[in-house]
Amino acid sequence: MEETKKDILNQGLADELNAAAEYIGFAAKFGDLALKERFLQYAADELNHAIKILRLMSDAKVEPEKIDITPTDGELIEELVQYIANEEAAVFYYDVLQKLHQDGEVTSLCQEIKNEEDRHLRNIRQIFLQAKERKG
Ligand SMILES: [Fe+2]
Ligand SMILES: [Fe+2]
Repeated sequence: MEETKKDILNQGLADELNAAAEYIGFAAKFGDLALKERFLQYAADELNHAIKILRLMSDAKVEPEKIDITPTDGELIEELVQYIANEEAAVFYYDVLQKLHQDGEVTSLCQEIKNEEDRHLRNIRQIFLQAKERKG
């Protein structure tokens, strides 16, 4: 059980840090001023999630492992498709994490992050549709 908790939290931390790095990469490479600002806001959200996971790790006395950050390097539309899948996975992750905890504080923290991931998911879908339309 302890191993499971360690793996789950480390996976969550890796996903959040990779998500933040990806969104920073998006902001660097793609979009006009408004879109870059949105990507940077998502990156900031993901960094906030990473900080919250660190807090859960500290509470659970779980040591963070070394994480490799590997941003992908493709066209905006391909990367957005990948990101829709990643945001779906994030919603699912926090749903599972929430169900694994009985602690009320952790449950509401998971709910809060899950809502943000859900908002990311809807926004990235919308950005994808707009990008596809522009491409024709
Ligand atoms: Fe996140
Ligand atoms: Fe997200």
